[in-house]
Amino acid sequence: MPEHAFDIAAQTYDTDFTDTGIGRYLRGRVWQRLDHLFQPGDTVLEIGCGTGEDAIHLARRGVYIIATDASPEMLNQTEQKAREHRVSELIEVRQLDLSDLPQWDLQVGGAYSNFGAINCTNDWAGLAEFLASVVRPSGSVGLGVMPPFCAWETLWHGLHGDFKTATRRWKGHSWAVLGDGSALDIYYPSVKKIVKDFAPLFTRDYVTGMGTFLPPSDVYGAVENRDKLRRLLTTLEQWFARRLAFCADHYWIEFKLLPQDRESA
Ligand SMILES: C[S@@+](CC[C@H](N)C(=O)[O-])C[C@H]1O[C@@H](n2cnc3c(N)ncnc32)[C@H](O)[C@@H]1O
Repeated sequence: MPEHAFDIAAQTYDTDFTDTGIGRYLRGRVWQRLDHLFQPGDTVLEIGCGTGEDAIHLARRGVYIIATDASPEMLNQTEQKAREHRVSELIEVRQLDLSDLPQWDLQVGGAYSNFGAINCTNDWAGLAEFLASVVRPSGSVGLGVMPPFCAWETLWHGLHGDFKTATRRWKGHSWAVLGDGSALDIYYPSVKKIVKDFAPLFTRDYVTGMGTFLPPSDVYGAVENRDKLRRLLTTLEQWFARRLAFCADHYWIEFKLLPQDRESA
């Protein structure tokens, strides 16, 4: 019996998503933002690290990562890959469940969470409080989040008569059915909602779309091997992603921690 719903997905996550052409392109755009936010020598917290792709990228640049996830199997994958890439000394793995946020005596330069890990909670105000308790003043937080409307998902599944999938995000909540048949609650905050929930502690710095013209992962097959189409959609993505974050598969949002009275925080 797996300890966490994502333990089974951990085995095939890289084949199903990480190593696809579109997945690699979108992650590359996230890396550009992470490289802008975090510098060699920084210590940075990652929430929902999955198989550790982003942690390894940053560690190879000399950033120290505290990589957390609720799934022990995802953490095992991260540790194993860190060994393979010879960056174990720069990556510390810790179990952290978004539905039971800890109180850690820790100070980091910033934090990030990529590709929808924070869609596994709906307590974003609690997350902001937790992050404010560990991030140093004026530190940055970058989040990759699934919004409540994805144009590709609605159009593709709507045109194929699958209205349940086409509209699954619209109420801000759905269930993902995982490999073992269990259902996981997924919540979809708009940019406005996240900004509001982070507002007393953080100010919004930057937003862009990730997968506005390129499709969500369950539809990669329709585009992945059509070179001309993929190139066209990638170009449109590069031109318009910043203006169309609200209807992308994910948006990438960055915050800065506001100065605060640590005693009363
Ligand atoms: C879609 S994956 C993204 C993984 C990784 N960030 C990436 O970029 O590939 C979502 C991750 O969130 C983790 N997760 C799910 N529920 C969680 C929770 N309640 N607390 C912390 N992590 C959770 C999963 O184990 C999984 O690794």
